[in-house]
Amino acid sequence: MSFRVQPAAPARPNRCQLFGPGSRPALFEKMAKSAADVINLDLEDSVAPDDKAQARANIIQASHDIDWGNKYLSVRINGLDTPYWYRDVVDLLEQGSERIDQIMIPKVGCAADVYAVDALVTAVEAAKGRKKRISLEVIIESAAGIAHVEEIAAASPRLQAMSLGAADFAASMGMATTGIGGTQENYYMLREGAKYWSDPWHWAQAAIVAACRTHGILPVDGPFGDFSDDEGFRAQALRSATLGMVGKWAIHPKQVALANEVFTPSEAAVAEAREILAAMEKAKAEGLGATTYKGRLVDIASIRQAEVIVRQAEMIAG
Ligand code: COA
Ligand code: MG
Repeated sequence: MSFRVQPAAPARPNRCQLFGPGSRPALFEKMAKSAADVINLDLEDSVAPDDKAQARANIIQASHDIDWGNKYLSVRINGLDTPYWYRDVVDLLEQGSERIDQIMIPKVGCAADVYAVDALVTAVEAAKGRKKRISLEVIIESAAGIAHVEEIAAASPRLQAMSLGAADFAASMGMATTGIGGTQENYYMLREGAKYWSDPWHWAQAAIVAACRTHGILPVDGPFGDFSDDEGFRAQALRSATLGMVGKWAIHPKQVALANEVFTPSEAAVAEAREILAAMEKAKAEGLGATTYKGRLVDIASIRQAEVIVRQAEMIAG
């Protein structure tokens, strides 16, 4: 039990984060016109070492020239274990336009990683007199990241979102996997000779959601690499949404509609949530804390569950 009210995550839609390499500026207009809520221009692992400087210049240019509409515009910088990251931050904030909303820090392993970027961002913002306060998002994609997930979620008032990066996470953990996210062939239970596949990402996702909800951060599911497998993407996204995540990355434009579909509460779900709220209003008027809805128990906790769905739908609609 805690007497403090759980902090709310930022009230902005984050159903889909569409990624594109900073070294492919021909994609930027298409990304801006997509239906993704968040655009992530990448300087990290989709950009070859020799292209880092040009990618930085492309993104700076695009922050001035492209109409990003109402997209939340984020740039993924290089990791703190590289020689690139400080120049990413300094150049983006010294030369990039005020249109940039957020910086994504990959491979965060401890709270001090976030503190270091926050300190640099704060100094450049002040020196350049930038008006918009840049927010931060992080990727949990290492053993250290998941071990320190709660302190990372608490690391900076700038922090708005946290994603699970399945591929780097699997590598860091020494997991015997290849595909990026989704079902893993060898992770199954046997019963009477039949295989039942289990979810190796579940515990990391649940740990991220708990850390995020404790500190008012948006929990997000990262990439699903096989962009030819719509059903696989949908299944992964539905599991993430069920666990409390608010969105998922798209590494190809065809995944945007899938993510939006899963992370927008359906009309049926919203209608049912409203019916539960109405049933509880009626119960309250009769002096009851619990009642029956469609043959099942609903009580005061059901109000809070239903409100999650209604609030999410209203926030997306608004
Ligand atoms: N954003 C917007 N549009 C994109 C896009 C993206 N990330 N990736 C491809 N497109 C466009 C293509 O330009 C093409 O447009 P067209 O129909 O006008 O010609 C269309 O979508 C179909 O593209 P396709 O040919 O299937 O893909 P590709 O071979 O050009 O690129 C990838 C495939 C995976 C290399 C590319 O989607 C990509 O780089 N994704 C992001 C990778 C990334 O950022 N990773 C880091 C995070 S994990
Ligand atoms: Mg990664």
